[in-house]
Amino acid sequence: MCGIVGYIGSKNSAEVIYNGLEKLEYRGYDSAGIAVISDNIIQTRRSVGKLKNLKSNLDLNPISGNIGIGHTRWATHGKPSEENAHPHTDCSGKIVVVHNGIIENYVSIKKQLISEGHKFKSETDTEVVAHLIEKYYKNDILKAVKSALKEVRGAYALAVICADEPDKVIVARYDAPLVIAKGKNENFIASDVSALLNYARDVIFLENGDICEIKKDTINIFNQDVEVKRETQKILWDAIQAEKCGYKHFMLKEIYEQAQTIQDTFRGRLSSEKNVITLDDINITEEFLKEISRIYIIACGTSYHAGLTAKFLFESLASIPTEVDIASEFRYRDYVIDSKSLVIFISQSGETADTLAALRIAKQKGSKTLAICNVVGSSISREADNILYTHCGPEIGVASTKAFTGQLTVLYLLALDFATKLNTISKEKLDLLVKELWDLPVKVTECLKQSGRIEKIAKEFHLKNQFIYLARNINYPIALEGALKLKEISYIYAEGYAAGEMKHGPIALIDETMPVMVIATKSKVYEKVLSNIEEAKARGAKIIAVINANDKEISKKADYQIVVPEVDEFFSPLINVIPLQFFAYYVATMRGCDVDQPRNLAKSVTVE
Ligand code: F6R
Repeated sequence: MCGIVGYIGSKNSAEVIYNGLEKLEYRGYDSAGIAVISDNIIQTRRSVGKLKNLKSNLDLNPISGNIGIGHTRWATHGKPSEENAHPHTDCSGKIVVVHNGIIENYVSIKKQLISEGHKFKSETDTEVVAHLIEKYYKNDILKAVKSALKEVRGAYALAVICADEPDKVIVARYDAPLVIAKGKNENFIASDVSALLNYARDVIFLENGDICEIKKDTINIFNQDVEVKRETQKILWDAIQAEKCGYKHFMLKEIYEQAQTIQDTFRGRLSSEKNVITLDDINITEEFLKEISRIYIIACGTSYHAGLTAKFLFESLASIPTEVDIASEFRYRDYVIDSKSLVIFISQSGETADTLAALRIAKQKGSKTLAICNVVGSSISREADNILYTHCGPEIGVASTKAFTGQLTVLYLLALDFATKLNTISKEKLDLLVKELWDLPVKVTECLKQSGRIEKIAKEFHLKNQFIYLARNINYPIALEGALKLKEISYIYAEGYAAGEMKHGPIALIDETMPVMVIATKSKVYEKVLSNIEEAKARGAKIIAVINANDKEISKKADYQIVVPEVDEFFSPLINVIPLQFFAYYVATMRGCDVDQPRNLAKSVTVE
């Protein structure tokens, strides 16, 4: 995920910024850059790849100045390249900008600015901000930033410097974090406090809508043109805690990030005004969909579970027959795919060897391919005909959490897009589902508040050696995913089953030593799940049920209840998986397991 560092004071800003960017390396990035002002001239250095490339560039072509901004870029709009690396400048080269987030309406702003004579040098959404500020600049950079931001929609953490006003950095925040650290006659900014801990510990976390003028000895914050005060906090975290934003593990941090990463993933692809889904990045036309024979979804592990969930979406919403296959199986199967098939590959890393090999096979067969990846520029994202990125930022915990809900978010958008193009969904249903999509981050936030209750339940069960997870229909893949999370990080043997399949064998496993986790939220199979719970209870199993508030029946039968907010059944997998992630996390930590790096597992499986 992108990182921002800025400085104003009397030190060499390039050095301070470089050191700060190094502290953000753990977030992942593909290029980096620094701009400083010296003698009213902006000097910029940018390099593709690791920070050491920027370092060599700076060693060869040193820059210095007491004010500057820097950035590590995780590509979203435009490939990783020097032109697309930040900082970005306006036409005059006097205004430079670094940005985290996504400018949703950058295409229309860019068109307008080009028609007014602005010349663009990159493919990024960020560059429009530099030109927009230039448009409004009349010797007052703060005013120009304020005017520009009135036109911008989306998420941003921004830092701006101007050659003609070398005594200030302007920063702004909306839905992307930004923090100011106060020094003595110097101030620092960063997207993440870990970049600044070596320099200062008194910090101000900006709030949405804040625009701030930072000089070396003053900080003035405005919100909706009114000057506001923000509290200063002392940060006592050590560097490692800071990387994890104070959470004990990356996995826990990533579970908590999900309300934001889901929103970041649909941002810019879902318009609030007309309920329109815009997937500009792909070329899958109405004509192709009308002739489509079948969708195949190929993936491994957690990504495979996202694919299994999507089968229900494509079949129910868009009436397209859908098959889901594990990549390592697909490779050696006699599959029937052709130019009328759409083959979707899901991969967080974009480097999984089996998924990549399957992609190459599908391409050889002449099928249309689409990848859903989290890592920009990864092999799968480069080789597929079409790519849709999840905007989750780097996932560091080996057990996948936020990438999974990001994948589901993209798949919801895709299924709704196909259903709209094929006219298989009514306007009322589409409006309803789009509205629910918008509300998902709020519902996820509600769900995250259950962590304390789940921790208590985990305490009761953490010494068990086996577990069964049950669910039906669209939540069946979530039973598989819940069981996978538990086994991979706690080393407890856990299996997910389709609840209706129990009586065909697995029920033999059930006695009073077997805990059973059941997903039992409101759905068309609610009554059926209730019967499956009765079957398990009759054999002595302890039942933990994930239910909705005001549940009348299952709450009485279950020994332990985890309450999640009610959503349309289509979105229930995305909500229901969150308590299962927490449960696995707490059980594993109580057993003393290394949750971020479980034994025998790798984050990116690049061998067959
Ligand atoms: C489970 C997990 C793995 C991955 C699988 C595929 O928590 O992380 O099962 O989902 O190895 O990886 P990607 O999605 O990178 O292809």
